Amino acid sequence: MPLLARLAVWTAISAAILSAVAQRTNLPDVPPGVFNASARIEIQTTIDAAWKTLNDFTNYADWNPFVRYAVVLSPANLTLPEQRPIENARLFMRVQIPPLPLPVNRSTPDNPLNTQVTYENITHVEPGLRRLAWDYQPPLLLQAERWQALSDLGDGRVLYESQEVYHGALATFLRDTMGEGLQESFEGQANGLKLYLERSR
Ligand SMILES: *[C@@H]1O[C@H](CO)[C@@H](O)[C@H](O)[C@H]1NC(C)=O
Ligand SMILES: *[C@@H]1O[C@H](CO)[C@@H](O)[C@H](O)[C@H]1NC(C)=O
Ligand SMILES: *[C@@H]1O[C@H](CO)[C@@H](O)[C@H](O)[C@H]1NC(C)=O
Ligand SMILES: *[C@@H]1O[C@H](CO)[C@@H](O)[C@H](O)[C@H]1NC(C)=O
Repeated sequence: MPLLARLAVWTAISAAILSAVAQRTNLPDVPPGVFNASARIEIQTTIDAAWKTLNDFTNYADWNPFVRYAVVLSPANLTLPEQRPIENARLFMRVQIPPLPLPVNRSTPDNPLNTQVTYENITHVEPGLRRLAWDYQPPLLLQAERWQALSDLGDGRVLYESQEVYHGALATFLRDTMGEGLQESFEGQANGLKLYLERSR
């Protein structure tokens, strides 16, 4: 093969390898909606430490600039004794959109102008796959399932990913009013998780 042709083949192969690495994902393939918010970040930690932190709702305030309070509830809205993601349980969250500036800790006050509350239904708790998901309730005018996933990249590196695709009659309004803030909040949570896990190593 002439040199230039060999170079072209080599470039094509390298690009394919690079894009395969860049596109590595543990998020499920979901249909597109009106818009989505997402984040992905590499963290120097163990997959067990990252999984434990994501499942530990009572400690979210220590690190999370987006979700400041998360509580697992029974269908009658009673606080469950076990505070971790449980499939089909209700989840009540108080969030900041856009997020608080990092770093945050348990005593960091909310910005009242950016405070929202939401009810969700916990739909997937998959320790084997390292995935969690919850669904916005009630799914009448807005349907949105938030996924979070971890992947072990080896060498003490973990990939954290999160994505929520928004569908329904309210989705366009939500995109226009809060789309940017939501995206910042997803990135804020990813950055907060990294800061917390890398600092507490
Ligand atoms: C999320 O939004 C981005 C940017 O608009 C788009 O490229 C991507 O296809 C969307 N993904 C899904 C699953 O909707
Ligand atoms: C349900 O419980 C949450 C968390 O304790 C509380 O903030 C909310 O006001 C309750 N909702 C209703 C309708 O009682
Ligand atoms: C929560 O979602 C699951 C899975 O989609 C469904 O089976 C269940 O009925 C839902 N529960 C509530 C309270 O909406
Ligand atoms: C907690 O964060 C606040 C800012 O949100 C800061 O003023 C305070 O010093 C922090 N406390 C600790 C113990 O780091």
